[in-house]
Amino acid sequence: MEPGFIGSNFCNINRNRYQITALDNLFLGDERNLEEGVTFMNGDACNMDDLNKVGPVDFIVHLAGTSSAPMFMDDGLIDGYVNSVQSFITVLEWARKMG
Ligand SMILES: NC(=O)c1ccc[n+]([C@@H]2O[C@H](COP(=O)([O-])OP(=O)(O)OC[C@H]3O[C@@H](n4cnc5c(N)ncnc54)[C@H](O)[C@@H]3O)[C@@H](O)[C@H]2O)c1
Repeated sequence: MEPGFIGSNFCNINRNRYQITALDNLFLGDERNLEEGVTFMNGDACNMDDLNKVGPVDFIVHLAGTSSAPMFMDDGLIDGYVNSVQSFITVLEWARKMG
């Protein structure tokens, strides 16, 4: 779920085995990293309305977050931490609601 470094590779490797929707707010990711067959949705994993637009799913692979790149080591560290934790909690809550 998302076209960042790990997410896009995960989607591309598995695109012929599963119907995959990649959700990313394009903070760092790039839709062009996704190969044909992967559905892309622009949305924020911290936002329940955006997650609801994905629709029912069988599995969630949550890789949308703030990576450990040097750009997050100074002022961005707290924002990055909050983003990663908040998106994780929101995705868990979405999974619970979706059953
Ligand atoms: N790459 C590594 O070696 C490595 C190692 C350990 C852990 N991780 C963790 O794995 C995760 C993915 O790593 P990566 O290297 O693919 O990072 P990445 O920066 O390449 O990809 C992260 C993606 O998440 C998206 N994103 C960020 N916040 C979002 C949000 N709120 N909603 C939707 N999309 C959002 C970004 O736009 C980006 O496409 C990160 O949490 C990272 O900390 C990575």
